[in-house]
Amino acid sequence: MTTKKTVITLITGANKGIGFATAQGLGKRGQHVLIGARNEQRGEEAVKKLRTNGIKADFIQLDVTDKAQIKLAAEKIKSAFGYLSILINNAGIALGNHEPASQMSTDTMRKEFDVNFFGLVDVMQAMIPLLKAGRPAKIINVSSNMGSLGLASDPTSRFYKVNSLGYQASKSAANFTTILLSKELVEDQITVNAVNPGWTATSFGGRSTTSDKPAGMQDVGTGAAQIIKMASLPLDDSQTGTFTENAGTLPW
Ligand SMILES: NC(=O)c1ccc[n+]([C@@H]2O[C@H](COP(=O)([O-])OP(=O)(O)OC[C@H]3O[C@@H](n4cnc5c(N)ncnc54)[C@H](OP(=O)(O)O)[C@@H]3O)[C@@H](O)[C@H]2O)c1
Repeated sequence: MTTKKTVITLITGANKGIGFATAQGLGKRGQHVLIGARNEQRGEEAVKKLRTNGIKADFIQLDVTDKAQIKLAAEKIKSAFGYLSILINNAGIALGNHEPASQMSTDTMRKEFDVNFFGLVDVMQAMIPLLKAGRPAKIINVSSNMGSLGLASDPTSRFYKVNSLGYQASKSAANFTTILLSKELVEDQITVNAVNPGWTATSFGGRSTTSDKPAGMQDVGTGAAQIIKMASLPLDDSQTGTFTENAGTLPW
């Protein structure tokens, strides 16, 4: 008799928002979710909520800008489980206030790049050996329609007039990482895909979650839906190098 291997899924920035909703969705589907959070109390509270709902969850301290912490997280996962099935790079920030690109502070942009690009790359590089140990495996990068070069340069798109250079360029760079790693990791049976959650009612960008959501802003379950869909595909599904949202495929 063959026993089915548990799907172990690490989600960064999973203590709230889209990351937490993704953990709930995947946990309910039987995945064992590792809640990456930079703050121990917030991470443990999220784990408690998930476990109350019968979900297998553990906290992993993970500030994606802290290389020593990333290394330690990988070591802990290795000793506790020996492998990873899915890595969801969800942690992200937006600090710019839609200033024109000619005026936006590069200090602000650097902070956005540290989390949205360098953090994502550092976590991927550290987790790839664990994903290889768990293969077939998946990496899902939570990107944004705001990082789409195709939409930003299309005069008919609502993103044509958006100005958020640090956030947009860092998500665009994350998309490039998705393209290159999807090709590099094919032979290791690891797929790499990018997902746009869409405009979602979380505390993202400093929004208050107690205020009414503006027209057109979706709830957090809808924001997590495409990530959950991609992470629920069979582990040996070969779809890789894609950029999708609930409505379909997006231009890079
Ligand atoms: N909401 C939207 O409209 C929208 C649209 C498109 C794309 N996205 C993308 O969706 C992802 C999730 O966003 P969200 O809306 O759920 O935002 P959110 O509610 O603000 O959650 C962001 C998560 O990232 C974590 N985080 C921030 N910096 C981190 C760091 N250095 N290390 C580890 N974790 C860190 C936060 O932790 P703390 O609680 O400790 O701050 C939080 O858990 C982001 O990548 C975002 O770019 C969101």
